[in-house]
Amino acid sequence: MSGRLGRRSFLAMAGAASAIAAGSALLGRSAQVRSQGSPAATAPSRLRSSGGRLELDLVAQDTKVAIPGGPSRALTYNGLLPGPLLEAEPGDAVRIELVNRLSRPTNLHYHGLHISPGGSADNVFVSVAPGASHSYAFTLPADHPAGTFYYHPHYHGTVADQVFGGLGGVFIVRGALDQIPEVRAAEEQVLFLKDLPGEGGSRAVGMGMMLGREGAVLTVNGQVNPALTIPSGGLLRLRIVNGSNARFWRLALEDHPFHLIATDGGAIEAPVELPELLLAPGERAEVLVRGERQGGRYRLLNLPYARGAGGMMGGMGSRMGMGMGRGMGMGRGMMGSGSEQQTPVPIATLNYAGSVTPLPLPERLLPVEPLPAPVRRRRFVLNHGMGMVFLINGRGFDHGRIDTSVRLGDTEEWDLVNDGVMDHPFHVHINPFQVISRNGTPEPWRAWRDVVLVRPGETVRVRTRFDDFAGRTVYHCHILDHEELGMMGTLEISA
Ligand code: C2O
Ligand code: CU
Ligand code: CU
Repeated sequence: MSGRLGRRSFLAMAGAASAIAAGSALLGRSAQVRSQGSPAATAPSRLRSSGGRLELDLVAQDTKVAIPGGPSRALTYNGLLPGPLLEAEPGDAVRIELVNRLSRPTNLHYHGLHISPGGSADNVFVSVAPGASHSYAFTLPADHPAGTFYYHPHYHGTVADQVFGGLGGVFIVRGALDQIPEVRAAEEQVLFLKDLPGEGGSRAVGMGMMLGREGAVLTVNGQVNPALTIPSGGLLRLRIVNGSNARFWRLALEDHPFHLIATDGGAIEAPVELPELLLAPGERAEVLVRGERQGGRYRLLNLPYARGAGGMMGGMGSRMGMGMGRGMGMGRGMMGSGSEQQTPVPIATLNYAGSVTPLPLPERLLPVEPLPAPVRRRRFVLNHGMGMVFLINGRGFDHGRIDTSVRLGDTEEWDLVNDGVMDHPFHVHINPFQVISRNGTPEPWRAWRDVVLVRPGETVRVRTRFDDFAGRTVYHCHILDHEELGMMGTLEISA
């Protein structure tokens, strides 16, 4: 591990004891109060920019880990699961030395950041061979929105295995959202969600990849059922990242609604109250939770969610629809994928501790600028072909082909059409988009996103503008097994 990190590896080598110690050091008050035996949720080991610079080494390696019921080894950055929490501000210069100690090629993608897709910035065409390293260097634009972003490997052919194996981490950009007084008053906690294969569970290949591999062990910041605390009257701000290969996380907190304040690309205009929160792979959300109960323990649950399945079995036709996928767990079992969650699973526990003068929710957040009328409309049809292939507009991924050419500065509308029987969360690099409508129904409020779930039979219309950066990048299904099996296209942005 690089000496520059200077942080202890709290999870990889350690059990609960040192996890608690590290958590206390990092989180101060909120981690001091614990109860009921579960370890206090630690923030991932944190690296902040200073003097306008964020510099670090990230060593991708196979590491021994201690996760109750989980695997004994995982792929990590710097021995940490999740990787270090990176934090920067708009205008900061970022330098990351990626060292590949894995047995296959890798690279890094800065999911959601609005930076250049070329050179040594967010260039997913870079290949870092085993034993080699690569120097990433980029500057965050001075007007980069504040938000919760996500770094993970993106080398086509190894990305799904490496993410499923454990790689990934959170990249926070701090800015205007963090300055809103009510938001600032909240205790902050990152929740990096990842499912890992169970003890001795294989990293399945083959049919399991059709639906996308899920692991049986649900972790939050690499921990099983950690404790969160909130004072009566207080506010807890959760920055939630779905770092899974294929699992959708459908979250509900007992007796507490979520107050959504940010989506993938940062703040929305005003909080939206939600009884539950569905996050597809790669998706992020920030929510406020009010300490509106007098005390007690409340479980943060992951509820069952069926991503569709039916039609994949033996060519039973492609139009069996969503009803078939739901409750038909045998579909997935037969395909040999890792798990099928049928009941709510507690993934963290919220404990009340102390009380404060009640804190209000913010009334307004930040403006979300509407985009101008599009100069062009395109259509992207998502489906699978015969056998193990997933396609966009009938074609599987080819990095040597340009699928979509756009002009820098243009606003476009894209219709994302799911013609198959499984959910496909569609993701675009570099520029965020706004959802305009789903099957013709206008989206109720504006938000910046970079992942949108497109369900079977659905057409989702999104609007985006290709701002600032020319170059070649990609869009794809963020069920990474689908991406590997072809559901990705190239996007060329030219000046
Ligand atoms: Cu998070 Cu191209 O991916
Ligand atoms: Cu991405
Ligand atoms: Cu997909």
